[in-house]
Amino acid sequence: MTLPEYKQAASVFHAHFGDLSASKAVICGSGWSGVTEKLKVVKSLSFADIPGLGSPGVVGHSGELAFCEEAGQSVWIFKGRRHFYEGEGWTPIAIPIYLCLQAGVKELLLSNSAGAINPAFAVGDLMMITDHINAIGDNPLVGPHQSVWGPRFPDLSYVYARSGQEKLLDAALQAGVSLKKGVYMATRGPVYETPAEVRAWKTLGADAVGMSTVPEAILAHAAGITVSGISCMTNFAAGISSNPLSHEEVTGTTARTMPLMQSLLKAWIGLPI
Ligand code: HPA
Repeated sequence: MTLPEYKQAASVFHAHFGDLSASKAVICGSGWSGVTEKLKVVKSLSFADIPGLGSPGVVGHSGELAFCEEAGQSVWIFKGRRHFYEGEGWTPIAIPIYLCLQAGVKELLLSNSAGAINPAFAVGDLMMITDHINAIGDNPLVGPHQSVWGPRFPDLSYVYARSGQEKLLDAALQAGVSLKKGVYMATRGPVYETPAEVRAWKTLGADAVGMSTVPEAILAHAAGITVSGISCMTNFAAGISSNPLSHEEVTGTTARTMPLMQSLLKAWIGLPI
């Protein structure tokens, strides 16, 4: 990932959106893109038109950046994300965060679909991420130091800042959504885990497992953005239930949970429910 690539993406972004601005942004995980149905989209741009970003090759990720504005509140919504397992390196994952920095975003909500590991969780639960474990086996900050991402050795003690967690809990209260809390473990994917791996992740302290979010959280936090994270428990992780895992189950659960996710998001943005 090199600065000229980011700058190209930023110049397309600025040329398209002009002086539209918002201090909040959301990155939608698998099946989350429908949250914009309850928002007023003012202008949007396909990921495919943003150099270095490109279209997500995964069902449930629509691949569009939407600027939404309503009742004096504005927000950038990345409808979908790129994943490390798509094999194009870190650039497509880092570009949304770079654009957030360019656009003056101060608060970023990262959402995803995840497999529930914590036995107290149910399918359809929403979990506020309190911390993460990076089991991707790589890190988006590997490489020459670029000051845009803050200091060389960022402190990850509070990736999901207390202020961000409080704001999410407040939003959940307003939206009447009960949130679980827990540790999100990111694996490299694209395979789901084996039951033995899930038992291992549980021993290591994971409450939920997925294939995303952690890289964006690291980059955004390192660059000084307040990061919050929310996971939809779309299935029980492998070995916890006898059902085979499938991406259809993941997108099916997010579709059923959509009204909760939409209300929570509206409250987080500061809109009436
Ligand atoms: N494992 C990994 N990623 C996932 C899962 C899972 O069980 N569910 C949704 N994304």
